[in-house]
Amino acid sequence: MLLQVDGLSCRYGRVSAVNDVSLAVREGTIVAIVGSNGAGKTTLLRTLSGIHDAAAGCIVFAGSDITRLAAAKRVAVGLVQVPEGRQIFGALSVEENLKLGAYTRPANEISAGLEQVFVLFPVLAERRAGEAGALSGGEQQMLAIGRALMAQPRLLLLDEPSLGLAPMMVEFILEKIVELNRRGLSVVVVEQNASLALEIAHDAYVLETGRVVKSGEACALLRDPAVVEAYLGG
Ligand SMILES: Nc1ncnc2c1ncn2[C@@H]1O[C@H](COP(=O)(O)OP(=O)(O)OP(=O)(O)O)[C@@H](O)[C@H]1O
Ligand SMILES: [Mg+2]
Repeated sequence: MLLQVDGLSCRYGRVSAVNDVSLAVREGTIVAIVGSNGAGKTTLLRTLSGIHDAAAGCIVFAGSDITRLAAAKRVAVGLVQVPEGRQIFGALSVEENLKLGAYTRPANEISAGLEQVFVLFPVLAERRAGEAGALSGGEQQMLAIGRALMAQPRLLLLDEPSLGLAPMMVEFILEKIVELNRRGLSVVVVEQNASLALEIAHDAYVLETGRVVKSGEACALLRDPAVVEAYLGG
């Protein structure tokens, strides 16, 4: 397993947001985590990437226990998150935003990293000197993904990549995620839009009020009547 999470719990003070969650990511796969508003998806991802501390449980990545490892060190070993809402730096240029993603990498890798991102998202090459704040929502999502790729991840954590995007842009972004996965990148994608995430994923987990209530192959969950009724609009 590339990522193995056992009995993970996360709290905000006395409020429990994630409860006893166990999950696994096989190397080379896409894992979807679906669940409605407030289910704990973002908290779970932020705990995996080390931004939020685990209250209980353990996280093993590529054979090492990283439960107490600082966020920057997790990036250095290949666990990289694309945050909810993109969080790009609007006043910086596209290229400057991308370079920020490479802070754990040696300087001599940066131009090759930029080239990889520009091949994947040519529009970012056209806009490389422009302010990131002037990009459309879809382009900002590309930039957020590109910035994460600059860290040369082994596992990419994506928080709601489709949020607020027009349907065609959603399709485009999902195709790119699938393309990255075909080239060997493992992916965890969190989505309120369950059908989108389940369609591209190999395995999936359904989260409700911080607990895993269902898991299995994504294609099986897509056909599960309870999942269809609760998350896929019946
Ligand atoms: N900073 C915080 N302080 C206190 N409670 C929080 C905080 N952030 C989130 N929560 C609570 O933790 C729970 C899980 O929130 P989280 O943002 O992880 O859910 P989510 O599944 O990502 O939701 P959404 O689909 O809206 O993004 C919710 O009950 C939320 O109110
Ligand atoms: Mg969220």
